[in-house]
Amino acid sequence: MTTHTSKAVPTTIVRFAEIIPDWASSPDAREEGHHRAVYRYIGGSPDKEPKAALPGWEFANGIVMAPPGNGAPLHSHGFEEVFMVWEGAFEVFWVDPRDGETKNVELGRYDAIRMPPGVMRGYKNTGDEDGFLYYIHGRGAYEPPVFQGEGEGTAVENDSFVDPLTQVVRYDDCPKNFQVYHETSLPEGVRGIRRYIGHVGGELEGVGPPPSLSEGEFSFVINENRVGSGAPLHDHPDLEEAFIPLESDWTVFWTDERGDSHQAVLGPWDMCWAPAGVQRGFRNTGRGWGKLHVIQGQGGALPPAYDQDYSHLKN
Ligand SMILES: [Fe+2]
Repeated sequence: MTTHTSKAVPTTIVRFAEIIPDWASSPDAREEGHHRAVYRYIGGSPDKEPKAALPGWEFANGIVMAPPGNGAPLHSHGFEEVFMVWEGAFEVFWVDPRDGETKNVELGRYDAIRMPPGVMRGYKNTGDEDGFLYYIHGRGAYEPPVFQGEGEGTAVENDSFVDPLTQVVRYDDCPKNFQVYHETSLPEGVRGIRRYIGHVGGELEGVGPPPSLSEGEFSFVINENRVGSGAPLHDHPDLEEAFIPLESDWTVFWTDERGDSHQAVLGPWDMCWAPAGVQRGFRNTGRGWGKLHVIQGQGGALPPAYDQDYSHLKN
């Protein structure tokens, strides 16, 4: 029996096409070179329109559309920030606090970088087409970014400094782990999980390739399933979770507090957000292998609480 422990917000679908882009996220967005539109799924200033679809608890996320040559100037946050390219090519740059030099990395589709708190960072679309850069913030509650020259921001300690260059995950180098969960041995459960950051709460940790980056403020993966296969009903009693198709259509399904079943079909860049205490699952309902981005709001998740027992299955 599922106990509903949501934060007063039930499982929610956010359609990409219904998000109002914010073309004035900061004053610089009006300047040539910094034009960009922010599409916020979760988190953002509560006092400013357009508001994000959801207010934000454990994490915030969204997509930035930047025309060629445009992007965000140097700024910092007091929490972890991940960038992942969803379309096009971007340069992410930052000031190395050890020598004051600006360093950078070029990212292609589904490549990601995790920026530690406090480091001054920015990005620019280096492609020929409009580009889309996805971000996740390690805190749901809104805090305005600190732009370079505006103030101190969060201090970066030299001795505990994490070099952003060590925090790059390339899609092609992030192996698919087909053995994270018992039920992935079922034909309808075949599921390769590219674990960018952190353990996603499997019962079979230590089997198959490990996550590319160690645990942080949140965990995320790209989950790849063949048509008709997916994850069965399960709950994460300790954290919130979101699903965003990157490729193919995906059906998400869940059970509400009354025990009624629901489902919704998501296209690319639509999002389903589920609070702790809800039995939820998904399957690929497109016509070929698909990619589903899954975010968990805390590192170090416990194994899922399943609707059915799969522990007898061997991988
Ligand atoms: Fe899950």
